[in-house]
Amino acid sequence: MRHLVIALTACVLAVGGAEDLEWWQRTVLYQVYPRSFKDSDGDGMGDLQGIIEKMDHIKDAGADAFWMSPIFTSPGVDSGYDISNYTEIDPMFGTMEDFEDLIYKANELDLKVLLDLVPNHVSNESEWFVKSVQRIEPYTNYFVWADPKYDENGTRLPPNNWLSYFGGSAWEWREERQQYYLHQFVVQQPDLNYRYKPVAEEIKGVMRFWLDKGVHGFRVDAVSCLYEDRRLRDEPPSGQNGTAPDQEGSLSHVYTHNQPGNYELIHQWREVVDEYTRQDGVARILITEGDSGLNYTFKYYGPKTRPGAHLNFNLFLFQVLYKDADAFAYNETINTWLEHKPDHCWPNWLVGNHDNARVATRAGQALVDAVNAVLLWLPGTAITYNGEEIGMNNTHVSWNQTVDPPGRRAGPQNYSSFSRDPERTPFQWDNSTSAGFSSSNDTWLPVNSNYKQLNLQQQQEASESHYKVYKQLVAERKSKTLQKGKTIAEAVTKEVFALVRELDGEDTYILAVNLGNETTRTDLTASIPSLPTSAAVVVASVGSGFIRGEILNTTEISIPSKGFVGLKGSPMKSHSASFSSSPSSSESWKALFFFFKRWDSAPTVTRCADGHACTES
Ligand code: BGC
Ligand code: MG
Repeated sequence: MRHLVIALTACVLAVGGAEDLEWWQRTVLYQVYPRSFKDSDGDGMGDLQGIIEKMDHIKDAGADAFWMSPIFTSPGVDSGYDISNYTEIDPMFGTMEDFEDLIYKANELDLKVLLDLVPNHVSNESEWFVKSVQRIEPYTNYFVWADPKYDENGTRLPPNNWLSYFGGSAWEWREERQQYYLHQFVVQQPDLNYRYKPVAEEIKGVMRFWLDKGVHGFRVDAVSCLYEDRRLRDEPPSGQNGTAPDQEGSLSHVYTHNQPGNYELIHQWREVVDEYTRQDGVARILITEGDSGLNYTFKYYGPKTRPGAHLNFNLFLFQVLYKDADAFAYNETINTWLEHKPDHCWPNWLVGNHDNARVATRAGQALVDAVNAVLLWLPGTAITYNGEEIGMNNTHVSWNQTVDPPGRRAGPQNYSSFSRDPERTPFQWDNSTSAGFSSSNDTWLPVNSNYKQLNLQQQQEASESHYKVYKQLVAERKSKTLQKGKTIAEAVTKEVFALVRELDGEDTYILAVNLGNETTRTDLTASIPSLPTSAAVVVASVGSGFIRGEILNTTEISIPSKGFVGLKGSPMKSHSASFSSSPSSSESWKALFFFFKRWDSAPTVTRCADGHACTES
């Protein structure tokens, strides 16, 4: 019902002033998943030389920067998010020389490179942890160690009820030290102890190491989890239906998530990147993966006077990625985020990453172009996960092939509800062996069986394709209007979602998406009267029949089911709508962390309030 209340409330938000934008504000940021991007040496695993080989594609897609999931030495339990040495390249990916080559090539192409900084935890095989277990200084207090509790029978118990993100207790006993250590993720990922100040300094050293090598910043992993309650208090139940008691969703994370110290730490790390920015005027940036629920997401940006992250990932669009999401859902989701955004926080949007099912699988192949259109024409930085530009699907991964820890833990019956492997399979370059990803047939995760039809080369050669639509959408982002214009997001009807960007004296951009199951004829001016009455087609979804350059009447546009059309018209007549709607209650928008695993079911999912399972009703 809340949909209906604000459905017809247009909201107009200005983004940026007349000043020139920084590279990270203008860019499409591309996420490379190194294990699956390109294998250069035929061992079935992606590597740095592979990324170098295929870097032109990132440029061709229109991105000006990319971030890479971890490439550092790691036992690989959580696919590289369990790092044993922060300043070494994992031999599986190559050498430090390869990394230097990668930066060289990126500079040649004028692409900025960001690394994944994983400060919440390291691998249990890291020197830091091995020494901490033995109380060897200075590492004794580098981790969150705690004494056991005992029940009345004298049985040893963990210090409290905290749960790991991947299921089960967040505490693991170490006989040698006669204490438990905390791991908010898998057992092999001990949490660092930020109450011990030298730890934050270590991370600053790691940042400087890579900044000196020429990276332009970091995507900072799992920052919601940095600090925990000093008193280690039990967390209260979340009351979330259908969550097993050993699943983290069963608790409300008031003592392990979004603790005040997190924001201060990010501010300190911000000061490190700013040192480098000041040296040559080129921004070095931090993008945090903090809680993206409304109550916390803007805190990771810090207050204007004490800045934190340049961007904190905004996962709101994941909430509309299900098969029958209607225009009201898009309207409310987008406007809610924009309405709550403080002026000094720059917007960002993403629809895919290595932790969540792919758009084509969640929302349906038919909607791939429309979702990319919304992503790329919303105000601010757009982030694309590799493969989303060609509409890759989740891949069936058998139990025997499953490597992702939450999948393995769930066992052969339930693994597919938890595993993130299906969205991590090799990039589909062409129709040759292993989709052109590797010369080997034996790849670390299976290649999707649809690769002969669905691959980049095919889409480059076809007269129309997801990729061509994607590139056209990105090309238009160079316009002043899409960079700096105001935004009007509107549910014109239950089926038609419209996104309008306008700027004084500049072309108006109009996007209309038909989310319904049938072709619909719509009058956009009925809900946005100040629109120009005619506008030219600049881009449209595959198979929609629109012709670039064709002039349409905005009072009467016919759009096929799941299709979209993007138009460019004259500057808007001065419109009365100015941002005034009162923000919707933030109560139902609590925590949105990184994991939105389940997709195809319906609106209950959009209110995914607490945690990441998204099954709340
Ligand atoms: C990453 C995940 C990873 C987790 C633990 C994240 O949020 O995106 O892939 O499993 O942090 O490092
Ligand atoms: Mg922590």
